[in-house]
Amino acid sequence: MARFQAPRGTRDLIPGEIERWQWVEAMARDVFDRYCYDEIRTPMFEDYELFARSSGEASEVVQKEMYRFKDQGDRDLALRPEGTAGVCRAYLEHGLASRGRVHRLWYMGPMFRYGRPQKGRYRQFWQIGAEIIGTPAPRADAEIIALFVDLFEAWGFEDLVVMVNSVGTVESRQAYADRLKDWLAPVAKLLSPESQERLTRNPLRVLDSKHPTDLAILAGKQGGLDPSTMPHMLDELDAESREHFEAVRSELESVEINSEIDHGLVRGLDYYTRTAFEVHDRSLGAQSALGGGGRYDGLIEELGGPATPGVGFSIGVDRVLLAMESRGDTLVKKAGTIFVASTEGTRPAAPAIVRALRAVYAVDHDLEARSLSSQMKSADKVEARVVMILGEDEWKQGQVVLRDMKTGSQTTANLDEMVESIDRILGSDREVESEEE
Ligand code: HAM
Repeated sequence: MARFQAPRGTRDLIPGEIERWQWVEAMARDVFDRYCYDEIRTPMFEDYELFARSSGEASEVVQKEMYRFKDQGDRDLALRPEGTAGVCRAYLEHGLASRGRVHRLWYMGPMFRYGRPQKGRYRQFWQIGAEIIGTPAPRADAEIIALFVDLFEAWGFEDLVVMVNSVGTVESRQAYADRLKDWLAPVAKLLSPESQERLTRNPLRVLDSKHPTDLAILAGKQGGLDPSTMPHMLDELDAESREHFEAVRSELESVEINSEIDHGLVRGLDYYTRTAFEVHDRSLGAQSALGGGGRYDGLIEELGGPATPGVGFSIGVDRVLLAMESRGDTLVKKAGTIFVASTEGTRPAAPAIVRALRAVYAVDHDLEARSLSSQMKSADKVEARVVMILGEDEWKQGQVVLRDMKTGSQTTANLDEMVESIDRILGSDREVESEEE
């Protein structure tokens, strides 16, 4: 075994695997462009206090999962556990409000949470997310959810149902927390130690527990609770939040997004107000949330800015890829390469030809002085579409040999027409593709 290994909970994305990630990212950029969202990149570490304030001191992310550290200058910093806090900090720091009222932003990059690693749960993981800052309009919530769903559709997920709920205002949530606590009181001692702790700190989080005992209790299989009597957040909502939630639901209907109410949906970060949503994939077991988000109307004010509403989501890219794998999606193939093979006499000329061709195509070649047959084996291995053979006789006449690796046929092409000749071979692929369509 190698002397060093990637730190626990982190992974290398090596060739063979990375292509699929690139594809997922490219599709996302494309969807964001069509939605007219702008990219934003923020640092991977920030003041610890930023996350403590935004995610909530009492949240599990802050209590247990923070990569908190002091730098040489004794600054109290943390690796970002999520992207929203940094985006809001940047929005304030750069006075984006003065550039326009409503901002639509997206980001992607690694996030860090010190959890117990398992399938779909890593200490460094990737998120793709988007935020609309500056409007409380229910249409913004519906747009963000439509974007969320359209990303999954672009990645080939079908028939997704978004689970939605409203977590109301801080006050209505407190009223709900009290009712939930009363409802759970008879089984309080049976709950897992973590949930017993949650019951005092943040009772809503008990509903989010993945612990088998808690799941059994909440499902009424243990402890004698009747799940049908569980209090619902929607019943505790203030009139404005209720109206907002209904407007979001009808906006979603108007754009034909399937959504279902999940009364047990509570988000793990404390900044949420009103709309909350998630998408799950059963194939992932306990860590099934592919992505989630919601509205955070108090967050920017909490960070010291003027009251500014916001709504957004993040998608766990690692989990999206795991779900795609379990669905049996085939690997995304790279576009066919051109392989340049040279012989003893033409070897010195090969790098210049390769460099010129690389202005147009993906081009591979041999770095060592290997035999023509070894080079042909390499061309097969990289699944080259065309092999350009620099044969000595042809070279003397200003020509090269082009082998179409699909049909096996060979032609001779003039050096000054090599691009046209290669295009002719590649063009035959395009004709076949358009006939197949
Ligand atoms: P979150 O629900 O904490 O929300 O994370 C979003 C997604 O990140 C999860 O649904 C999951 O797919 C993925 N994820 C979270 N933790 C891990 C982990 N340890 N390993 C692998 N994947 C993970 C947020 O982060 C909010 N910032 C979303 C948001 C944006 N709300 C408003 N705007």
